Amino acid sequence: MFEEKQIQPLHFNLRHISQQSQRITHKHTPHTHTHDTMGGPLKSKTLCSCVPFGPKQEVSLEGVILSNSQFECKIYTFGAHVASWRSLSDLEVFKTKPEFLFLSQKAILDGTKPIRGGIPICFPQFGKLGACTNQHGFARNSTWEFVGSEVDEEKLLAKATFTTSSTESTMKEFPYKFKLNYTVSIEKEFLNTKLEVINEDEKAFEFTTALHTYFGAKSITDIAVKGLNGVRYTDSLEDGKKCVEGEEEIRFDKEVDRIYRRNVALVDKERLEIIDRVWEDKGVLSQHTRGVAMTTKNLNDAVVWNPWIDKAKSMGDFGDEEYKEMVCVEAAAIDEPVKVKPGASWIGEQTLEAVINLAHFSV
Ligand code: BG6
Repeated sequence: MFEEKQIQPLHFNLRHISQQSQRITHKHTPHTHTHDTMGGPLKSKTLCSCVPFGPKQEVSLEGVILSNSQFECKIYTFGAHVASWRSLSDLEVFKTKPEFLFLSQKAILDGTKPIRGGIPICFPQFGKLGACTNQHGFARNSTWEFVGSEVDEEKLLAKATFTTSSTESTMKEFPYKFKLNYTVSIEKEFLNTKLEVINEDEKAFEFTTALHTYFGAKSITDIAVKGLNGVRYTDSLEDGKKCVEGEEEIRFDKEVDRIYRRNVALVDKERLEIIDRVWEDKGVLSQHTRGVAMTTKNLNDAVVWNPWIDKAKSMGDFGDEEYKEMVCVEAAAIDEPVKVKPGASWIGEQTLEAVINLAHFSV
């Protein structure tokens, strides 16, 4: 029997920083910044910042870096793609893996292909469920405009908003005028991504969507997804066979590709947990877990995906062994396509909370 001696959630650390922070709120437009990595005016004066960066030799994409002194988040304007969300804490468990999201070593970062990892936005269709030629639609292939940011020192908040609209090219695949706004914010240990879809057409339209988050794992065999027990799903690997989840913890030892239809009445209250167990044995036995708790609004479905060995090998922008380091849990609206009337809008969002438990046990 192990006796648990200590559990120290990350929140303690953050509260300490929060007390030190100053009461300053900034709002600005991106146009006041020079495109210089990590060097903007807000960065040098404050704890929270939103700093645009420009193309570099090895990565020809531009974007912004949000920071709130505890966490940092990198977003490319190509796809309004969150590519990194990492802790800046020096907690021992973070030293090995401060990053919460997975980004493939082979991700193409030149705007010719959607980025493999981070949080791609699937719109106006999930997978092949629509008329778009590209799987998961065109939003993740489009260059979005960075329209503004906000930082609030007291809340440890940094936020950036991006936008994109229908073009002649998108009208060929999705024949409606629309506008998308996407807001990414980090507040303390939370990452919130919010997609607004505005119908600017004279006709109503329907779409499916997903915030296709790739979570980083120390080892896929130690990762567990919780919160879907008893939930109906279709198995995309078995021609959409209908099943019901029977496990408290979903574990991975083969390819998994499922669309869970969560209970609409409960989905806003329940959270999904993606737990990465980091075992250590240094004299005492320890079980450190690095987890993310996900809550969603208006995104009632959850896709769980790991490509495993053969599919990993078939993807040119994914390392053969990288299936061991990731799992996708995607907040989605698939089962019931979203309908938006002319002039109306819809908002779907997910909030991820970083949860660290450092637990030491004595025998
Ligand atoms: C998941 C799908 O959402 O995305 C999988 O359920 C798919 O079937 C995966 O393979 C990756 O898609 P893509 O287009 O980024 O290779």
